[in-house]
Amino acid sequence: AMKKTRTPVLWINGLDCTGCMESFLRGISSTTELLLDWISLEYSELLSSASGHQAESHKGRISEEYDGKFVLVIEGAIPLKDEYLTVAGKSVREEIIATAQKAKAVLAFGSCSAWGGLPAAKPNPTESVSIRELVPNVPVVLVPGCPPIADVMIGTLLHLAIYGEIPELDNKGRPKRFYRQTVHQVCHRKPFFDKGLFAESYDDEKALKGYCLFKLGCKGPSTFNACETLGWNGMRTSPIGAGFACIGCSEKNFWDKGPLCHRK
Ligand code: SF4
Ligand code: SF4
Ligand code: F3S
Repeated sequence: AMKKTRTPVLWINGLDCTGCMESFLRGISSTTELLLDWISLEYSELLSSASGHQAESHKGRISEEYDGKFVLVIEGAIPLKDEYLTVAGKSVREEIIATAQKAKAVLAFGSCSAWGGLPAAKPNPTESVSIRELVPNVPVVLVPGCPPIADVMIGTLLHLAIYGEIPELDNKGRPKRFYRQTVHQVCHRKPFFDKGLFAESYDDEKALKGYCLFKLGCKGPSTFNACETLGWNGMRTSPIGAGFACIGCSEKNFWDKGPLCHRK
């Protein structure tokens, strides 16, 4: 049998809500077991049993020992104002820059690390930036979503661990396999859209019948994500399935574009 070497993963948080990791952990299924065969999560503020200096020195040891071989996951935007984010007395910004140079690949999990997300929304008091703005010389795979779909994060990580290379990306740096279609193209409410049948409010009869949510501000037509094909929690649920319009959470600057404003 082929001997598998598990790829070490360091998961560093910037300014985030930990929602991305929450989503990741809820991808509980056979893929998660498969994932644990292929990766070894060596550092996570949320999951590591070690804490403080013990955890910090382990992170440093892994990045030295596996120089060029480990995967770095970034969740959250990175504030340029260091006073907003230090761990163990050190600037997380500097830590991420140093660690990213040594990584085999950097994965931006979530819209905060991919685009700046909520922390970078106007007026951006912490001067937060995306991981690509922070380390423009390092190739980064963007896995946007607020949060991203568990299968999309796990699938991207598995591809790296199994094939040893990053998956095919689109022109924005996202894995093509998961971001090639808009939410709208494959939406289960699209037959209603095609017939011009729209809900007028969230609690009208039409909404209950599954009519299209376009008139309620749905951003599915301009949003690239796999919500309507993969969905969440192994049950293929999505915001639209739950009855709410897409707010475009995987797109750049979605907060500043007014995610909750309704078309009139
Ligand atoms: Fe939280 Fe969304 Fe940012 Fe992930 S992308 S850390 S879920 S705000
Ligand atoms: Fe498109 Fe949104 Fe209507 Fe679905 S609910 S068909 S994504 S406009
Ligand atoms: Fe986000 Fe829209 Fe999917 S809000 S979760 S991209 S349906």
